[in-house]
Amino acid sequence: MRCFRHVLYLCIVLTLFSLVYVFSQLAYTLEVRDRWRELRGAAHRGLDTGLPLRKTRGPAGPYERMHREGPVKEPHDERNHLAVVACGPRLEETLTMLKSALLFSKKPLHFYIFADNELQGSFKKALNSWPHIARRKFNFTIFPITFPKDNEREWKKLFKPCASQRLFLPLILQEVDSLLYVDTDILFLQPVEDIWALLSRFNLSQLAAMAPEHEEPRIGWYNRFARHPYYGRTGINSGVMLMNMTRIRAKYFKNDMTAVPLSWEETLMPLLQKYKLNITWGDQDLLNVIFHFNPENLFVFPCQWNYRPDHCIYGSNCQTAEQQGVSILHGNRGVFHDDKQPAFRAVYNAIQKYRFGEDLEKSLLEPLEESLRSTTHTYCGGAATSSPRG
Ligand SMILES: *[C@@H]1O[C@H](CO)[C@@H](O)[C@H](O)[C@H]1NC(C)=O
Ligand SMILES: *[C@@H]1O[C@H](CO)[C@@H](O)[C@H](O)[C@H]1NC(C)=O
Ligand SMILES: *[C@@H]1O[C@H](CO)[C@@H](O)[C@H](O)[C@H]1NC(C)=O
Ligand SMILES: *[C@@H]1O[C@H](CO)[C@@H](O)[C@H](O)[C@H]1NC(C)=O
Repeated sequence: MRCFRHVLYLCIVLTLFSLVYVFSQLAYTLEVRDRWRELRGAAHRGLDTGLPLRKTRGPAGPYERMHREGPVKEPHDERNHLAVVACGPRLEETLTMLKSALLFSKKPLHFYIFADNELQGSFKKALNSWPHIARRKFNFTIFPITFPKDNEREWKKLFKPCASQRLFLPLILQEVDSLLYVDTDILFLQPVEDIWALLSRFNLSQLAAMAPEHEEPRIGWYNRFARHPYYGRTGINSGVMLMNMTRIRAKYFKNDMTAVPLSWEETLMPLLQKYKLNITWGDQDLLNVIFHFNPENLFVFPCQWNYRPDHCIYGSNCQTAEQQGVSILHGNRGVFHDDKQPAFRAVYNAIQKYRFGEDLEKSLLEPLEESLRSTTHTYCGGAATSSPRG
């Protein structure tokens, strides 16, 4: 019990640290710099009192031929390109993710929203209704869920109905150079341009970036259960995936299906055929297979960019988050909506309820402090007042 309290306390402390950072960025973004001093004070007061606040080449396909004719590139594209795939009951969660991206970013954003027919109209309506203060920072394009015609059914039934859409983004968005793909259940606690900046740190072979699936092999899933090749020691998590798609489209990937390297487009179907009986997490497993055979093409970014309950549930194991705070929070396994990880849910609720233009301290920081305080009382009674040593 003491151990559990200690872990929960750490999660909360990490969240508070990132919030302190977030609010500094937020204040700057919204040009309310003097207010920042006050907000930072409020966050520190929370801390002081121990309060919770934290791939010979085969024939090229149509997509590739198009690419070889040369992509249309804007010379100075200042925008950060963000893609998400939303199906079923994911509207609200996706809008909350998009809101968090806007709250902290200074650079203009372009959203590529892939949604099933039922959700398309709702996205359009909701995004167009956002106030000018948010609306002037982004443009968006809504796409239907599409898979290659020949194998549509197989891709659809992989893992979740539209999850494997992300594998096709480099082929669908031909004119887009680079893209940040995120799952619907993530929240940006730092500006999108901060993770975007990692693209410029890619060496000449790297074309995609992801975080490890686990920091701790003893509780890792791939190293204990996978019946297919996976990347590195514990595999990679595809919930936050940064891609230089110009490079992905140009690359021929090594594989264990033929002796010749295959393009991204050529590799997907044979890969699915070979591994479909052995994979559990759908497209993420296929990405693990691809980068297992092509490790030099992956840039691994630290866990603070894809912070999940696994990083604190059995003990804190994400060192970069301890040092620099959580930059992207990933509420996988539904923790933004249930009571298993109150700190995750509290951050989600606070951002979900916040409306653009409202006072940040009163409408975001204060309610968050308040809900974190009450979740602490409920789940680890007294942790708020106990020392970090628990
Ligand atoms: C959105 O598109 C309009 C029209 O093309 C353009 O004038 C504006 O600068 C774009 N905004 C952003 C944030 O990219
Ligand atoms: C699938 O898993 C089985 C059992 O672990 C293994 O023998 C087989 O080689 C795997 N298939 C592939 C394509 O890796
Ligand atoms: C992606 O890679 C291409 C080819 O190497 C390069 O020209 C482009 O600048 C890269 N994009 C980014 C955002 O780094
Ligand atoms: C890029 O970095 C990866 C991972 O460290 C490495 O395997 C690869 O050889 C590097 N490529 C180049 C061209 O330096």
